[in-house]
Amino acid sequence: MTAIQGFIKPSRRPGELGIHSLDHFHFAVPDLVTAKNFYSEFGLNVSERDDLLTLNTFEHPHTWGTIGEGPRKKFGYVSFGAFEDDMERFSERLQAMGIKRLDPPQGIDSNGIWFRDHDGVLVEIKVAAKSSPDEKTHFSFKSSTPGERGAPFRSKTPRTRPRRLAHVLMFTRDVSKAIEFYTRVLGLRISDHSGDNIAFLHGIHGSDHHMIAFARSEASGHHHFSWDVGSVDEIGIGAMHMLSKGYANGWGLGRHVLGSNYFHYVRDPWGSYSEYSADIDYIPATCDWQDGDQPADDSFYAWGPNVPEDFVHNYES
Ligand SMILES: [Fe+2]
Repeated sequence: MTAIQGFIKPSRRPGELGIHSLDHFHFAVPDLVTAKNFYSEFGLNVSERDDLLTLNTFEHPHTWGTIGEGPRKKFGYVSFGAFEDDMERFSERLQAMGIKRLDPPQGIDSNGIWFRDHDGVLVEIKVAAKSSPDEKTHFSFKSSTPGERGAPFRSKTPRTRPRRLAHVLMFTRDVSKAIEFYTRVLGLRISDHSGDNIAFLHGIHGSDHHMIAFARSEASGHHHFSWDVGSVDEIGIGAMHMLSKGYANGWGLGRHVLGSNYFHYVRDPWGSYSEYSADIDYIPATCDWQDGDQPADDSFYAWGPNVPEDFVHNYES
């Protein structure tokens, strides 16, 4: 007999206005073939639609990102998902704050609210299903029992397939202005920060420790996309696969302190990164997380290799 699955309501913090998900992103690169190769090898399901590449994860219907062609790598926009009955209040909030509403970019069919953030980055708030997790992401570490072989043979090791987009890290000229804008306008909350150098923000309706983060730079730009995987093994297998395909630069394996996730960053062909991430901290809708100002040398990473010299270089500036 087939079990009938009931509709489970997404988690929601009652009475407060805030977006619930990082819905998707868009950016441009000079060569879509290069982009298709990189993200396919990374483990995403890459398709072509009109003049765009679409980035999906396998066995998940959501499109997490689109990539178009442009003269150089440039971040385009970030789209956040909101509950339908919150849209009117978002409109009113933008109007009250004097934030100018814009038309959607050419060729995009959207009934969302478009505007620019404190740094001029294009932002959309739209009605969308909650794609941020409603509970802590599943993480596994399987220890073999006595008499059993624990590690798979190389020839039997499955490819790493990320499960979902976890977060995006953006460069900004002013981290405190980014915090102010994204908390006051979009209703995000600060999870942790390190002086004026970096800040991590989460959604109030239940999300990972961060769905967007900001690092200080001389210009706006994009640093990395983070993709959730289920184990440290999957991180290592993904990194090895990328190495075998010529994507040798990056940083990892390591563990962050702020967010607690295990990571390996693979440098993409444009100097930014895609991160394999596992076991990031989760902040439920019922939790009032205590933000802290954490010294960088105590909070950047718990362990891992030395940080590459240009790891936080903004190649979009
Ligand atoms: Fe990250």
